[in-house]
Amino acid sequence: MIPPLSTPALVVDLDLFDANVDAMNELLQGTGKTVRPHVKTHRTPELAKRQLGQFAVGVTCATVGEAEVMVAAGIHDVLIANEVVDEAKLARIARLAQFANVMIAADDPAPVEALSRAAKRAGVTVGVLLDVDVLLHRCGVVSVPEALALARVIEGAPGVRLDGIMGYEGRVRLHTERRDELIAGAYAFLHKVRDGLVAAGHQVDVVSTAGTSTIREAIADPFVTEVQAGVYALMESELLVMDLPFRCAAAVRGTVISRHPGHFVADVGRRVVGVEYGPPVAVGIEASAVALSDEHATVAIAGTPPALGSQVDFIPGQIRTTFNLHDHVWVSRGGEIVDRWPVSARGASQ
Ligand SMILES: Cc1ncc(COP(=O)(O)O)c(C=O)c1O
Repeated sequence: MIPPLSTPALVVDLDLFDANVDAMNELLQGTGKTVRPHVKTHRTPELAKRQLGQFAVGVTCATVGEAEVMVAAGIHDVLIANEVVDEAKLARIARLAQFANVMIAADDPAPVEALSRAAKRAGVTVGVLLDVDVLLHRCGVVSVPEALALARVIEGAPGVRLDGIMGYEGRVRLHTERRDELIAGAYAFLHKVRDGLVAAGHQVDVVSTAGTSTIREAIADPFVTEVQAGVYALMESELLVMDLPFRCAAAVRGTVISRHPGHFVADVGRRVVGVEYGPPVAVGIEASAVALSDEHATVAIAGTPPALGSQVDFIPGQIRTTFNLHDHVWVSRGGEIVDRWPVSARGASQ
């Protein structure tokens, strides 16, 4: 008999994970669009590889380090959907492009010129997606003239290639005020930039946008070519209220280490589960509250607490920070643990 996992342990239910991947492919079926799964969600190459195929040709990364880990694991098409400005990282990107198709986001001419010099030295070409600020007011160009000026720099720089544009509208929650208007406005600006570039003679093959919360709107949009969703494969409880065909596929397994009338304690604290979107949900337990400290989850219940030493799964509210707290993830099939994979890009934030 296989002994129970030593806890706390991060576990992915591969049946659910694969079903989420299939559901994404079903959403994309017949639309002509692709998905470029954002692997910041799990930082785990073995999971990333399971998302590829059918309508997914490559992955999205947030950092150069994530991209390096994915390429080392055999993934040959990566988008770093983020601005990179320092020479050392640009040199790493150029090196990476010797082994894979690499694209990065840019919103300023100076890093594009620096990337061009690094690419020339490495004898490679790196794709660039011109980043457009569609809603978040974080990175990205904010006007068509700014986009045109940047596009001219990209087109004129050897070793870099203008592949298209990207915008990321961020998480637009179900009850966000004026939700439809905000998303429509974001995509309208993306179209405006695209049309301006095309009218000026630039080729815009890629229009990349969207996370899981806006996946349906992005798929319905006529100009979006690919979606960058990431969380869909593992899900977070706050997105379950949306009309999406995805289910929660990961949990942190804990052991009941103390029990009392009205509450029990499991060894699942903030050091193993991300709480930025609220506490985790205890599976199969009617809890009135779950409170986390460093190493403990205190679960308030009305009925009899589970047995001392028994195991309880906790579904994290924030999956991305949860994965980044673990060296490896256990994988289950049909409820049985079948393997353990390294979260190889854990901590690869540079
Ligand atoms: C630029 C970018 N694209 C796509 C995503 C994916 O969004 P989600 O994880 O909600 O699917 C993120 C997530 O933070 C992101 O930062």
